[in-house]
Formats: sequence, C-alpha cells, structure tokens
Amino acid sequence: MKNIFKWIGIILGSVVGLILLLAATLFLIGSSRLNKSYQIPPDPIVVSGDPATVEHGRHLAETLCTHCHTADFSGKTWFSFPPAGTVDSANLTSGNGGIGSEFTDEDYVRAIRHGVGPDGKPIFMPSVAAFQNMSDDDLGALIAYLKTIPPVDHQTNGKQFTPLAKILIGVGVIKLPAALVSHNPSVSAPDAAVTVEFGQYLVNISGCYDCHGQNLAGGPFPQPGTTILVPNITPGGEPGAWTEEQFFAAMRTGVTPSGHELNQEYMPWQEVGKFSDDELKAIWMFLQSQPELNQNSK
Ligand code: HEC
Ligand code: HEC
Repeated sequence: MKNIFKWIGIILGSVVGLILLLAATLFLIGSSRLNKSYQIPPDPIVVSGDPATVEHGRHLAETLCTHCHTADFSGKTWFSFPPAGTVDSANLTSGNGGIGSEFTDEDYVRAIRHGVGPDGKPIFMPSVAAFQNMSDDDLGALIAYLKTIPPVDHQTNGKQFTPLAKILIGVGVIKLPAALVSHNPSVSAPDAAVTVEFGQYLVNISGCYDCHGQNLAGGPFPQPGTTILVPNITPGGEPGAWTEEQFFAAMRTGVTPSGHELNQEYMPWQEVGKFSDDELKAIWMFLQSQPELNQNSK
C-alpha cells in the first residue's frame, strides 16, 4: 500500500515538474520574441507637407487610428485583461509622454508598416497586419498629418504583459505583428474610385479582416476575455439582405436595419462611417462581391 502512494507521489511530482519546466521554457521563448531585434532598412516613403497631402493624411488618421489612439491621438489603455496584463496605445502627439517629438519619418514607417519600434523591437499594435497593405503615398500622407497634430500631455503606460501573456506569446496564441507581416519595402494602391478593387484596398487597410475573420464570415472577437461574436459580413450574413443605403446608415448612425445598435467599443462604426460616400460605396461593392458564406463559429 505504502509503495503505491510513493509511486503516485513520484508520478504527480514529475508531472508538476514537467509542467513547470514547459511553462518556464515557453516563458523564455515568449520573452525572446518580445526582445527580438528587427533590422528594417528605410522604405522609400515621401513625406510632403503640402496642404492637400496633409488633409488626405488627416482623413486616413480619422478613419484608421482614432478608435485605439483616441480622437486627440493622446492614447489610452487599449487592452486590459488581468491574467494577461494591459497594453496602452501610444500618445502620438508631441506633448509630454508623446512620441511625436522624437519619431523620425522612418520611425513612423517602421512602426506602422512593420510593427517595429525605434529600438528595433516588436511593438504590439495588431493593426500592423492591416497597415502593411497601405500604399507608400497613403503612408506618406498619414505621417505628414501626424506631424501636425496638436500636442497633448498624456503619459501612457506601454505594454505590461504578465508571465502568462509571455507564455501565450511563446506558444504563439498571442502573435506579435512584426513576426507576421511581409515587410514589403514598397506598396501601391489601386486608383481611388468606386470599384471593387479600391473597396478591397480600403477593407485591407481598415482591419476588417482582423475582427471579421480571414474570409469576413465572422467568429469570436480576437481578444481574450471578450465573449462577443463578430458577425458574418459576406452576403451570407445579415448585411447580405441590406441595400447600399442601409449599409451607409448602419456605418453612419450605428443602427442596423433590424434596429440593432452596434457597439462602438468593438465595432469602430464611427471611424468606418467617416469614409467618403465614394469610399463607402467601394467598400460595399467589395463586400457584395464576396462569396456567400455561413457564419464562422470557431
Ligand atoms: C487596434 C488598435 C490600434 C489601432 C487601430 C492603431 N493603433 Fe497605433 N498602437 C496601438 C497600440 C496598442 C500601441 C502600443 C504598442 C506597444 O506599446 O507595443 C500603438 C503604438 C503606435 C505607435 C508607437 C510605436 C512605438 O514604437 O512606440 C505609433 C507610431 C502608432 N501606434 C501609430 C498608429 C497610426 C498612425 C494608426 C492609424 C493608421 C494606428 N496607430 C492605429 C494600437 C492601435
Ligand atoms: C475591432 C474589430 C472590428 C473591426 C476592425 C471591424 N469590425 Fe465590423 N463589427 C465588429 C463587431 C464586434 C461587430 C458587432 C457589433 C455589435 O453587434 O455590437 C461588427 C459589426 C459589423 C457590421 C454589422 C453586421 C450585422 O450583421 O449587423 C458591419 C456591416 C461591419 N461590422 C462591417 C465592418 C467593416 C466593413 C469593417 C472594416 C472597414 C469592419 N466592420 C471592421 C468588429 C469589427
């Protein structure tokens, strides 16, 4: 009898030991991924201060950045889930606590297109997966505008990952964008027009895929600790039965034809609604051109 207990003890002890060893290994892998240094040669981006370009940059920033960086670009706690930690978006202005006074044009390009900070280490801005598709011209205009935004003093807290988050980065459950994107040095866009191609471009840079899934058929919200289901926006989902006017109304008022109010915290309709009529038309054309899929549940 005594022997059995001894053996159970040895086996349990070994299992616990192995689990601890595995966790420690994954923690170290996660930490080394966070500390990896990326060498990104400068991309040929022209940043011109001419007023039309700056104005175009403002339009891009107001449709693509304010959801996470706030309306005055001073940053906020963007992610908070105690088991994994917190992540603040950066203060993009040149006020106290902002990056604006330090960032060179190349630093902006490295952060927005490549997901890499001025120190060469990966940043945790998931939208880089979408922004890598932004054309050289759009990226240049965006940077030109960022350099004009009024300073706001606001100290942000960077990313505070718990050991568990580092383990999840080690496993690959939490992915660092710098390891995922293709690091193209130059990107072009189709002509801005009411076409499926331009609609696809806007969908690509807006991060619709990050939340609505690789085929836009929806799925779970891409953040731990959130149970909201992201809807299918292919013609197989509810919007398949909408008119273009109803799509416009949903994106501009946040209310869908069924009377459902979209939650701005999860669906950035206030930003998407700032696209011009022609841009929204192109997005709608692209969505309509997608295969009719069933809602993803996984
Ligand atoms: C989905 C949320 C989200 C969106 C949308 C977003 N950002 Fe960020 N951004 C973040 C987070 C989070 C960080 C902090 C990353 C970190 O500390 O690792 C960040 C950091 C940055 C940084 C600083 C990088 C550094 O090295 O410190 C820049 C520059 C930046 N964002 C620019 C932009 C611009 C420009 C846009 C719009 C085109 C944008 N972001 C849209 C979440 C977002
Ligand atoms: C940060 C994640 C996120 C991004 C980015 C995002 N969506 Fe959504 N979207 C959601 C969520 C979550 C909902 C459901 C919101 C609710 O019901 O309150 C939603 C709802 C919608 C709906 C309403 C669908 C229905 O059946 O009621 C449409 C249409 C839509 N999104 C289109 C888009 C388009 C187009 C883009 C890109 C330009 C986009 N979304 C980007 C998360 C996102």
